[in-house]
Amino acid sequence: MNIIEIIEKKKNNKKLTKEEINYAVNAYTIGVVSDAQMAALLMAICINEMDEEETFYLTKAMIESGRMIDLSSIPGIKVDKHSTGGVGDKTTLIVAPIVSACGVPVAKLSGRGLGHTGGTIDKLESINGFDSDLTTEEFVKQVKEVGMADVEQTEEIVPADKKLYALRDVTGTTESISLIASSIMSKKIAAGADKILLDVKTGSGALITNFEDSVKLAKMMVEVGKRYGKKTVAFITDMNEPLGMTIGNGLEVKEAIKTLEGNGDERLTELCLSLAAKMISMGKEESLEKARKEAEDALKSKRALEKFKEFVKAQKGDINNIKVSKNTFNVYATREGYVYDIDEVTLALECLNMGSGRKHKDDKLKLGVGILKHKSIGDYIKVGDLLATVYYEDVKANAKKIESAFMVGSKKQEHFPLIYGVIE
Ligand code: URA
Repeated sequence: MNIIEIIEKKKNNKKLTKEEINYAVNAYTIGVVSDAQMAALLMAICINEMDEEETFYLTKAMIESGRMIDLSSIPGIKVDKHSTGGVGDKTTLIVAPIVSACGVPVAKLSGRGLGHTGGTIDKLESINGFDSDLTTEEFVKQVKEVGMADVEQTEEIVPADKKLYALRDVTGTTESISLIASSIMSKKIAAGADKILLDVKTGSGALITNFEDSVKLAKMMVEVGKRYGKKTVAFITDMNEPLGMTIGNGLEVKEAIKTLEGNGDERLTELCLSLAAKMISMGKEESLEKARKEAEDALKSKRALEKFKEFVKAQKGDINNIKVSKNTFNVYATREGYVYDIDEVTLALECLNMGSGRKHKDDKLKLGVGILKHKSIGDYIKVGDLLATVYYEDVKANAKKIESAFMVGSKKQEHFPLIYGVIE
């Protein structure tokens, strides 16, 4: 087969066959197809998209680029979760320990930052010593003994996604329904959980901004899950404003811990409890009401916090040593009024420019940089009020841009709705 013909076919908006998709994925994984060729194919997919059948074959080829994890030796129904990516989205760090503390094992494969959105693995690696590269045997053993584990794609498990993900991040090819669906579902199927909960972000800060397309993405992933015999549920949740108060790897881990201590942002806490309750009800096959109570109890009693600490320790992280930059400066308001919107993409790009994300595949992240917000939608601000604190290393963020990201008007606004719907 010829990769150039495959690229040209997709460029001309033609449907690819199962064999062509298999060839492209396998040849790229073993290095026969170059980064440049694969980037061209990814861009053609981004522009022309793939239909449901092509997306399924792409997912399948990615899963079969490595081996699947067998979790059958772990008792109980294993439930996994994945977010399609957002700004300040640290939900996994809160949801997974809540669910695990309630007795539902969580075996998770996560990703790194993608485009302007953050990634759980980068966040976890801001914890000194944290090891996101366990062997499959170590991963299974930890889920068995600790009740949760979170690792990156490896040379063994979805190696195709590991390579494609890193390439998409630096080639402007993140915003495609079929590429997101196959990337997420290949990890979820390969990780071996019995059931899957997806958090599909919609809004200006999400990879897929348009609501109808977000629903399409959710349905596509639910369908792939179904084809693999895995019950898959998708929440469609808001990404029109940053989630919680922080953006940036180390800062977000600290905020997740604060939330597990019971002192988190209300909106972030509510979303985490909703997702956790659904996962618990799926794992224990019990009512959502009962599961919600259990999730709240795990949070209130600090059992979830203890579980998070146990998990970090098991993966060799030092919870008392999380990277947060020492250099800071404050951004103050120059206008008066109610905050009616916060441009989360501007804030995320400022963090990325300071080094929280990659511009090149091999960039080394500055895990301590980021932005701590002091104001949210609905707050009244006066000239001179503190809007944000910026944590930087050598490159400083643009204070003017950060200030202008807080949009101010004369009428008090409510937050955007948190959850728009659920697709089962
Ligand atoms: N998360 C992933 O794992 N892949 C994507 O493409 C987007 C979010």
